Amino acid sequence: MTAGTRASKESVDGPANQDEGALQSGHRGRPSSGVESTAVRGASRRRLPIIASISRLIDVEIDGKTVRAPEGSTILDACAGLGVDTPTLCYSESLAPVNACRVCVVEVEGSRVLVPACSRRVEKGMVVSTDSDRVRHSRRMVLELLGSSVDMSLAGPDVARWNEVYEVDAQRYGPPAPASAAGERDRRRPGHHEAPDGLTAANVAQPVKIDDELYIRDYSRCILCYKCTQACGEDAQNTFAISVAGRGFDATIATEYDAPLTDSACVYCGNCIGVCPTGALMPKSEYDMRQDGTWDESKQTTTRTVCTFCGVGCNLDLHVQDNKIVRVDSPKDHDVTHGNLCIKGRFGYSHVHPAFPGD
Ligand code: SF4
Ligand code: SF4
Ligand code: FES
Repeated sequence: MTAGTRASKESVDGPANQDEGALQSGHRGRPSSGVESTAVRGASRRRLPIIASISRLIDVEIDGKTVRAPEGSTILDACAGLGVDTPTLCYSESLAPVNACRVCVVEVEGSRVLVPACSRRVEKGMVVSTDSDRVRHSRRMVLELLGSSVDMSLAGPDVARWNEVYEVDAQRYGPPAPASAAGERDRRRPGHHEAPDGLTAANVAQPVKIDDELYIRDYSRCILCYKCTQACGEDAQNTFAISVAGRGFDATIATEYDAPLTDSACVYCGNCIGVCPTGALMPKSEYDMRQDGTWDESKQTTTRTVCTFCGVGCNLDLHVQDNKIVRVDSPKDHDVTHGNLCIKGRFGYSHVHPAFPGD
């Protein structure tokens, strides 16, 4: 195994998508009241009526405490109800679970393997351990393998906290192997194992892909969580411009035939950027400022407004620094957008900035 995402997707608990579609109610940090809403993951779930059903409450034991959880909710939801901090990387409340990263695994009594909390539904009488030696060891391993092979420096404070909680030591695999040349990883033969040298830590470091002025792809930061492909595919955009190519450690996110974004099916909605947890996908405006050393979130304000390009009514979060819009997102809990936008809402803001000094 070389990295948690790449290695563990099918090895720990059988087929990766066995629980896909399992979530019917409840969000992380916001346990369901038992009344299902339309604001749930995936297009298929958004076809649910506004009030679908009243869920039966069932008792589950988590770390020795009994919690009542709505039938159909997940172990992750039940943990959140108890205030148990569960690490997640590939999970998003706006996407169907893909069980890719396995950092959320828990022990369930009677189950041979660890199970992903983000997608496994609670069952009556279930006995769950979230902090056993086995769980801690597995979570630590996933975080270490990712930390040793991927640049996680923009993955956010939660990951930094989990690294401490699980005593992650990504350096113990040795110094990083040299970065790959541009395109080298994309050209590797699927299924062909490149033997490591045993002295350095294999990694995914490579040059940033810059195809245009809208967004960049820095796959040195990619943990292969599948969120971008879900957002580009059936969970939001239905464009399917990107997918996972290759096998094992050499798996990458790719356009068809590795074409530049400008020659691909990409419609530049930026919905992949909105869900990327590591900064691998980033607006060019943000990337340029980070390169210049001028990106400073402490100086930024966020203003929520409504996009004026059409009548759909998407909410926009405008991130503003030094009186300039530097990035646009959409709130994930907005029941029109679910965090998604089109190219106009996401990138069409330069007209609000003066084109010439003094304008
Ligand atoms: S910008 Fe939109 S269409 Fe292009 S790859 Fe990302 S999600 Fe897909
Ligand atoms: S580019 Fe980002 S969203 Fe896509 S798989 Fe990599 S880390 Fe996940
Ligand atoms: S498998 Fe649960 S968060 Fe990734």
